[in-house]
Amino acid sequence: MKIAVLPGDGIGPEIVEQAVLVLNALGESFEMETAPVGGAGYEAHGHPLPEGTLKLAKEADAILFGAVGDWKYDTLERALRPEQAILGLRKNLNLFANLRPAILYPELAGASTLKPEVVSGLDILIIRELTGDVYFGQPRGVRECPDGPFKGQREGFDTMRYAEGEIRRIAHVAFQAAQKRDKRLTSVDKANVLETFQFWKEIVIDVHREYPDVALDHMYVDNAAMQLVRAPKKFDVMVTGNLFGDILSDCAAMLTGSIGMLPSASLDANNKGLYEPSHGSAPDIAGKGVANPLATILSAAMMLRYSLNKPQQADRIEAAVKKVLAQGLRTPDIFEAGMRKVGTREMGAAVLQALV
Ligand code: IPM
Ligand code: MG
Repeated sequence: MKIAVLPGDGIGPEIVEQAVLVLNALGESFEMETAPVGGAGYEAHGHPLPEGTLKLAKEADAILFGAVGDWKYDTLERALRPEQAILGLRKNLNLFANLRPAILYPELAGASTLKPEVVSGLDILIIRELTGDVYFGQPRGVRECPDGPFKGQREGFDTMRYAEGEIRRIAHVAFQAAQKRDKRLTSVDKANVLETFQFWKEIVIDVHREYPDVALDHMYVDNAAMQLVRAPKKFDVMVTGNLFGDILSDCAAMLTGSIGMLPSASLDANNKGLYEPSHGSAPDIAGKGVANPLATILSAAMMLRYSLNKPQQADRIEAAVKKVLAQGLRTPDIFEAGMRKVGTREMGAAVLQALV
């Protein structure tokens, strides 16, 4: 089995290094090959998603991705910015299903900005459609405003759109995920205003007929944002479009106290996937050895479960992470008085040590 390792920018290389050490300690024979991506791709080959990197990602069975982005690339034209690497990988590899779990580890209940009783025991799964919506819809650009009071001025525009098949396939992923959990699915839309999401809702209702054992409800995205902060434990699985999912998943991540703890998987129709921490490249702390490697290590666990068909190995990693948290080890992002503050390497080494 071949794993493409794409560390990227900022803290990416440091945290991916720890996840690779953990993968190598499992006693499996994974073939791993590393390639530059994002700003690192631009530096090495003049493009955030160099041809060789895309080729490697295509032929691998799974991709372990760090993070991309650094403010030093903010002045580049859009096509050359680091973010285009992750968008390009999602689109080129058809990774349409993004799974973002938000789990609160009991040991970290105090790290949340919400009251412990609101978040303790939180375990929700956000399923975000990842290759459609206003992120990729055409046409887009800047043009002369064709009508209205600002006619003749320049205007920026994007296109929100979802094809029926795109909605159906993400709905199936969501219903099937709900079947494996508490069998409750909330579809998040903006059907009261947007045609695209009125259509989304209709299709989700239609797909629901195949999953009568799952309880489906619908929520407008603004209300969903409010409910996530008010009573997040009411949710089990949420499914939504690309843009709403981007926003809601950051919100859900923060409920747990540290976005540094949360993994994610982006899957195609055959469960080939790209695995990355839910957080970004954090250039402000890059190279300081303080980044939390646990989200990336947990992403490697998701990779074992969803793409490499090694659920027991995934369990081993997840158990090891729980153990180091119980031992009181904390990187600065999740540190609380009385705990032991450790850096990236020390945290990775502790997970290795805790593997049984
Ligand atoms: C994410 C990120 C990306 C997105 C950026 C880096 C393009 O915010 O994975 O959530 O908007 O999808
Ligand atoms: Mg985001």
